[in-house]
Amino acid sequence: MDALDEPRSRVVLIDPDPHVCEMLRGILSAEGHSVWVAGNGAQGLEAARALPCDVALIGPPLPDMDSLEAITTLKESVPQAQAIALTEFSSLGWAIEAMRRGAFGYLLKPIYPGLSLLTIERALERKRLWEENRQMGRELKKALSELSHMQEIAAHGEKLAILGQLTAGAAHEILNSTNIVSMHIQRWLQEEALDAKLRETLEAVARHVERAVRLCDRLRRFSRRGGAPSIERFDLNQLISDTLGFVEQGMRLDDIEIRQDLDPAMPELVGDRDQIAQLILCVIRNAWDAMPEGGELGLRTEPCEAGGQRGVCIRVSDTGCGIPPENLPRIFDPFFTTKPEARGTGLGLSICQNIVERHGGRIRADSEVGKGTTITIQLLLEPGERLNAVEPGSG
Ligand SMILES: Nc1ncnc2c1ncn2[C@@H]1O[C@H](COP(=O)(O)OP(=O)(O)O)[C@@H](O)[C@H]1O
Ligand SMILES: [Mg+2]
Repeated sequence: MDALDEPRSRVVLIDPDPHVCEMLRGILSAEGHSVWVAGNGAQGLEAARALPCDVALIGPPLPDMDSLEAITTLKESVPQAQAIALTEFSSLGWAIEAMRRGAFGYLLKPIYPGLSLLTIERALERKRLWEENRQMGRELKKALSELSHMQEIAAHGEKLAILGQLTAGAAHEILNSTNIVSMHIQRWLQEEALDAKLRETLEAVARHVERAVRLCDRLRRFSRRGGAPSIERFDLNQLISDTLGFVEQGMRLDDIEIRQDLDPAMPELVGDRDQIAQLILCVIRNAWDAMPEGGELGLRTEPCEAGGQRGVCIRVSDTGCGIPPENLPRIFDPFFTTKPEARGTGLGLSICQNIVERHGGRIRADSEVGKGTTITIQLLLEPGERLNAVEPGSG
């Protein structure tokens, strides 16, 4: 082979006729193409694969295989390579069949240098287009898959938003009805001559109605929606208990024991109540997912100092599967998930981080595989201006 540093192309010549080969080698080498000559099909195809070649010139009859077969095999094993049939005028039929099988074109023997070079240049152009096409196909496939992922997430978010609105509406309606039921019960209970058994029953009904009212009220507060963030002063322990109320029944059914250690001396916090609820729910949800066989969920709050300012510290710990060290730096990245598609979007913790930062805080994960994970969240009591910054999830 005439090895050049930067060949214009790699050409494999498969022709049993040494005169044709030498002539073509001379013409092509002089123009900066690197040429590999093979006297039979097997050697030629092997070289075409190994280089890999850009153009293969194939002239029949080959001593070891059918020339058309050689073209088919080349197309299969080196799809980007362009085959050119070398033919005599008397066997043009062969060249036509070769082109039907995917050959780019043909060169007539005897060889004309100018025409040979032109044909090679055009074959190289077609190879370049083929590669561009393949690259674009790959990019398109990747873009389509990303798009479909984004659509799924958007649909999921939209569904949640609608669900929130429906829940708030339904809770409101149920509260209206329970108010009427409560009113009637209270009126009956005021009757002095009421039968003792009936009074007992009415009091039991009143307790259950009261429970339903509390649940609806919690639902209404949780699913409350509004364009602007609702910044207020609130009791964090109460919010944690309220939020836990949504999931604790389900977690207990999954054999998860819940341990709460909420410091009663916790000062009130200024922040976006809905977002802090979302943050807590998300972290609890992850802990739940990490304990499919059951375990223990710990919720702890205490006052703390953060950068010289007063704050609160929330710790959510689980005894679940834990996070491998190589994943730990990635869990706050958007779209990072180890869960099957239907269960995880990989957005939870990235939204949590955004919420925490808006509240002038920090979020950290400590974990050991097989032992469990602790998520530590520090929030400032008075986050100030930051809260009016960009909404989480909008960027
Ligand atoms: N408590 C936890 N225990 C084990 N792995 C966790 C825990 N919390 C988060 N992770 C890991 O971090 C990943 C990202 O979490 P998240 O952003 O909430 O997305 P998602 O829950 O949709 O996967 C999870 O897929 C999981 O691998
Ligand atoms: Mg999650």
